Amino acid sequence: MLNPRTVVLTVCLACFAPQAAPAASLPQPGSLSPAALAATPDGKRVFIAGATANEVAVFDLASGTVTRQISVPHTPTGLAVSPDGARLYVTCAAPQSSVRVLDTGSGKVLATLPAGHNATAPVLSPDGKTLFVCNRFNNDISVINLETRKELCRIPVQREPTAADITRDGRFLLVANHLHTGAADAEHVAAVVSVIDTATRKVVKELALPDGSGLLNDLRVSPDGKYAVVSHILPHFRLPATQLDRGWMNSNAATIIDLARMEILNTVLLDNIDRGAADPWGIAWSADSATLLITHAGTHEISVIDFPGVLARLAKIPATLDASKSGPAYSASRVQADVPSDLAFLVGLRQRVRLPQYDLGPRAVVLLGRKAYVANYFSDSLTLVDLSSPEFRPQSIPLLSQPAAAGAKQPVSPLDRMPLIRKGEFYFNDAGICFQGWQSCATCHPGQGRVDALNWDLLNDGIGNPKNTKTLLLAHKTPPSMSMSVRDTAETAVRAGIQHILFTVQPEEVATSMDAYLKSLKPVPSPLLVNRHLSDSAKRGEKLFKDRQVGCVSCHPPGVFTDLKTYDVGTRGRFDKPSDRFDTPSLVEGWRTAPYLHDGSAATMQQVLTTSNPGDKHGKTSHLTPQQIDDLAAYLLSL
Ligand code: HEC
Ligand code: HEC
Repeated sequence: MLNPRTVVLTVCLACFAPQAAPAASLPQPGSLSPAALAATPDGKRVFIAGATANEVAVFDLASGTVTRQISVPHTPTGLAVSPDGARLYVTCAAPQSSVRVLDTGSGKVLATLPAGHNATAPVLSPDGKTLFVCNRFNNDISVINLETRKELCRIPVQREPTAADITRDGRFLLVANHLHTGAADAEHVAAVVSVIDTATRKVVKELALPDGSGLLNDLRVSPDGKYAVVSHILPHFRLPATQLDRGWMNSNAATIIDLARMEILNTVLLDNIDRGAADPWGIAWSADSATLLITHAGTHEISVIDFPGVLARLAKIPATLDASKSGPAYSASRVQADVPSDLAFLVGLRQRVRLPQYDLGPRAVVLLGRKAYVANYFSDSLTLVDLSSPEFRPQSIPLLSQPAAAGAKQPVSPLDRMPLIRKGEFYFNDAGICFQGWQSCATCHPGQGRVDALNWDLLNDGIGNPKNTKTLLLAHKTPPSMSMSVRDTAETAVRAGIQHILFTVQPEEVATSMDAYLKSLKPVPSPLLVNRHLSDSAKRGEKLFKDRQVGCVSCHPPGVFTDLKTYDVGTRGRFDKPSDRFDTPSLVEGWRTAPYLHDGSAATMQQVLTTSNPGDKHGKTSHLTPQQIDDLAAYLLSL
């Protein structure tokens, strides 16, 4: 809660500082990490979720200052304001998350509602009576009755729901799943948007994005209720990772959903032919649904898109080639199916706006009238972008007071004051260190260095043998690196990644800080734990895991669950050589790293233990009953 004395004191300190801190600044040491934004319906205030400060800052637009800081119990991940503007709902992410209900006038806590694991993206029904919350690591949606303050039910979706929005009539909730489920060597590998009928509270449709799609970060319904747009990556993981040109590895996209038909209209690329627009994140619409904004967290830009122009251009492109007609008036796309690979599609319909030099890591964005406010995660600042001005005049608004260097006239780079770990996190998420800005390390290792669930044919172990992306949790503690142990340590792998995956040369400091960041990662408790303990099924599974005859612990000893050695455990696939042996992976956090095995060929733990282990070369599992397999899987998914 706001402590008036702290504010007064800090204001006075600011007066004595050699260079008075900007009025907007908060007296908060450390970092704020603005991760989500929400505005009051009157457009006078913007709430800012400070992810690493466990607080919500209230930003007053008229004065351009932060007028209040409100503490919340855990990392605030998402914000929603009630239709009457009286209440603010804040998802506070933890293994047992909560939703804080705050009075927007006084900042007082009105209620605290329980939610699931790593809750995010709160969405209100149009009547303001029901709240939907994405429980990212439970893979489900909480439906909460706000009058009784009771959770009515959980609706299962696919995997890591990270964003949601509701149709204007309140009939359908659209949920963006961050990652795909299923094996990585399947015919179609892509995350889906789950469509939930809010009356029956069931998923009625799953909209499959183009092959490869993942990292869905935001989804917003247009104010006119006709379309929804979802931001995501469009990887080309089936190609060998030989180059980056023209989005060869990862391209960056937005998929448009036609809500009347509840079908995907098409997917457009946000990159230019010679310049990637890495890691699309937040989305905002203008009130007339004519302007669409998308932030690019990797390249520190926003796209300002003429949405009716996009619809008009799409409408001119035929579904199939009609020989009797001449080609379309515009576009390299001859038919609709060409659009998701057309790097020139948005030419003339979109402006890329580079944020001020020191505004880094734009994620959320809100648009009030013609003024856009962008939340910059790594620089603890907002950017004000004026859409009514032809030059957009992006203007930086710092949110934290920084001790200015004596005599310094120029603003200092936020990198200069970042502790090493934070700097490493920044570089890890930065596509500025990638050739032409196509991707960042986080494009394939999202969610704090974890996995995109895809197979990539990196060249470090030869060509034509794709490998499933590995989590970087514990990577520095479990050498060697890569599933064929081609790198002696994670340190070597980090440097090789910069050189051979981002295709650049960087100062050693970039790699050193990334090492520090990756070493600082901590396992997240499994959603299968019951009050932090193994479930009964997982306890039975633990016994099997430790059973000599089943024989898992010899290679996966408790601790980091790997003996750091390589073996042939009968998991070679069609692309592997007879002599290939694989590094024993750690099993920690296996609940969030599916699919499994070096080639991502096992979608579930059960598959690892059954169909992928026909000859009992990978522990002895053939004698186990289906119940015992489920128990063993429950244990593995609890680590
Ligand atoms: C195009 C996707 C992609 C990008 C971008 C990417 N990686 Fe990876 N990374 C992978 C894959 C796939 C593997 C596993 C390869 C294997 O097992 O042979 C991997 C493995 C690793 C490992 C080894 C982990 C272990 O325990 O064996 C490290 C460390 C790593 N990456 C760091 C990075 C860093 C740092 C960056 C940015 C400079 C980066 N990666 C960018 C796909 C990617
Ligand atoms: C001889 C050593 C050895 C034994 C015994 C062994 N494993 Fe493994 N385990 C490995 C190796 C090597 C891999 C990697 C295989 C691959 O990538 O294709 C692996 C992979 C796994 C994976 C996939 C992890 C991932 O993230 O992809 C799981 C789960 C697993 N083992 C569980 C078990 C269980 C359960 C047992 C006992 C039934 C067991 N292992 C016995 C060596 C062993």
